[in-house]
Amino acid sequence: HEQHDIIIAIDGPAASGKSTTARRVAKKLGYTYIDTGAMYRSVTLKAFEHDMLERLKHSPEDVRILLDPLSIEFQGDRVLLDGRDVTAGIRENRVSREVSFISSLKPVRDRLKTLQQQMGEKRGVVMDGRDIGTVIFPDAELKIFLVADAAERARRRYAELVQKNGNPAALPSLDELEREIVQRDRDDAERAHAPLRKHEDAIEVDTSSLTIDEQVELVYSLAMERISAG
Ligand code: DC
Repeated sequence: HEQHDIIIAIDGPAASGKSTTARRVAKKLGYTYIDTGAMYRSVTLKAFEHDMLERLKHSPEDVRILLDPLSIEFQGDRVLLDGRDVTAGIRENRVSREVSFISSLKPVRDRLKTLQQQMGEKRGVVMDGRDIGTVIFPDAELKIFLVADAAERARRRYAELVQKNGNPAALPSLDELEREIVQRDRDDAERAHAPLRKHEDAIEVDTSSLTIDEQVELVYSLAMERISAG
């Protein structure tokens, strides 16, 4: 019998394994993966490019300049901001440091909410972020909340950086990474608009002692249950 496409919302703190899990589950299901963190990072990069960060700290309402017009598209693994490929730029450290500030601004959240809801309109998506199950798609058939120890998340981030940069001497220490992660968790959970929070229907998965393969299998089997239930 015919299967129906669902929406899968995956939320959780930084470096909890959301994006790897979401991307791989989407691939197994033939669904579209949407990385909403990349969207907040794109707006943050745009603020740097317009040399507006300091100004926004004083006059946050000026953020409208960055939003009008704004286009963010995904092409496979690439991210296009206003038609330009920003896949590498949005991972820069300066962007990681300021993205919590930019994502705390109400006009930014309102605009990205509209874009994200449009992207999920046709269903068959796996969307990851901080507020997907609570604010963007509260009716998503499957809501997952991924958590992991801060120390374990710092180790994963470190391994990822070593893999990308090669030279461990040029990297922040494990302690520094853990402090940054804890700080970002706090900023994301304490902000006024759409803070990081688990929806009451979300299934909490602690990935501290799971491998990536195990996380993927677990979320995939929950998805298959929901899909065949529909
Ligand atoms: O997933 P990430 O680490 O790339 O996300 C970067 C930042 O974007 C994160 O610190 C908080 C913000 N964010 C958000 O506020 N809401 C989302 N749905 C996704 C990300």
